[in-house]
Amino acid sequence: MSNDKDTSKLWGGRFSEATDAFVQRFTASVGYDQRMAAEDIVGSLAHARMLTSIGVLSEQELVSIEGGLEQVSKEIENGTFQWSIELEDVHMNIEARLTELIGAAGKKLHTGRSRNDQVATDIRLYLRSAIDAIAGELTRLQRGTITLAAANTETIMPGFTHLQTAQPVVFGHHLLAWNEMLERDYGRLMDCRARLNQSPLGAAALAGTSYPIKREQTAAALGFDKPTENSLDSVSDRDFAIEFCAFAALLMTHLSRMSEEMILWASVQFGFIDLPDRFCTGSSIMPQKKNPDVPEVVRGKTGRVNGHLVSLLTLMKSQPLAYNKDNQEDKEPLFDTVDTVLDALRAFADLVPAMRPNEETMREAARAGFSTATDLADYLVRRGLPFRDAHEVVGAAVAHCIETGLDLPELDIATLKGFCPNVAEDVFDVLTLEGSVAARNHLGGTAPEQVKAAAKRATKRLDSR
Ligand code: ARG
Repeated sequence: MSNDKDTSKLWGGRFSEATDAFVQRFTASVGYDQRMAAEDIVGSLAHARMLTSIGVLSEQELVSIEGGLEQVSKEIENGTFQWSIELEDVHMNIEARLTELIGAAGKKLHTGRSRNDQVATDIRLYLRSAIDAIAGELTRLQRGTITLAAANTETIMPGFTHLQTAQPVVFGHHLLAWNEMLERDYGRLMDCRARLNQSPLGAAALAGTSYPIKREQTAAALGFDKPTENSLDSVSDRDFAIEFCAFAALLMTHLSRMSEEMILWASVQFGFIDLPDRFCTGSSIMPQKKNPDVPEVVRGKTGRVNGHLVSLLTLMKSQPLAYNKDNQEDKEPLFDTVDTVLDALRAFADLVPAMRPNEETMREAARAGFSTATDLADYLVRRGLPFRDAHEVVGAAVAHCIETGLDLPELDIATLKGFCPNVAEDVFDVLTLEGSVAARNHLGGTAPEQVKAAAKRATKRLDSR
């Protein structure tokens, strides 16, 4: 430890020796919170203008603060700003440079404010812009998904349960299922934005301030709906970051499930889709390989996003009111979540609409595995059999097909009548793939007519955002 008194600290007054060099590094956040510099400056401008309107700063001082902050902002943008670890974080780096540039007026900016309400304001502003960017990419992905769905309302593929062929569906129906997951994600994102959009500025360190500040004024200037209610809560609340990470974890979980399907579908074994070469990579040893890297990386990145949610929950779980320095640890998980989600959405917004379905392969797969067996059972019910008996009869017919190597529609009418005398010639209408999907003609069903209407409704929802 050095014994020299360090006069460079903005809080150095009561200290008699300089901060230990390791402690300095260990407790500093400027390495990562400088990402919020623009928000910090916008927040300071709103605060300075409010202080001027209540007579704490003079017009002259305000003009000089505005000019100084503009200069700081330029220096940060063009990369000439000298970030210093001695000044701990983005807030004190900017304030110190401002004072260096404009002198006395710079020292007045922090009147009636604390870094505690300042940082809470900065994170909310930062996250609000990030949410808007994410909403844009999410909407782009949904639009691409719906467009591909609308082009594939008659492309038949097997629908699965237990990853075993279950019943035929159309590809567009499957894609619109993805869109429903994403639609709920969008709703959660907007809920998060609405709760986040309140201004903590004015809570100061924890109890408020003795100046006659106007919190409504700074809230409005920063585009917040209103000021937060309680000063203790304002400086210690990070719910909005947790909510955002919860949204992100669920979104990534959805993207990961979509990834898993694309990876399976693109395999030689499934062969349902082709992914454009520009989204794939090769192998350095196996010349035939074309690997679906993009969905694999998205699936892989889901882990870190889920981890960040747990980090933030754990960060907050034992904190007493009000601000604790622990909170500084909120930023890296939050920033990485934003970056990862934006990248994943960007990749998928480009990739998903570029998938090319192999209609013949999908159709063949749907035909295999007796996917219209339920349709035969439903047919027998319409012809008077109780469903459980029909289930039994069709089970026997399937067993016969497995034994003889035939498909259900390949059985002749006499054989079918042998299983159940109620069968007539029209049975073949329901045994075809087209008959099967067309029969599911109700809201939420896979009939092409329904899927077309569903795609229209989904587009309308997007248009009204
Ligand atoms: N860098 C700090 C953070 O990220 C800013 C607030 C610091 N407040 C304090 N009283 N030390 O949380």
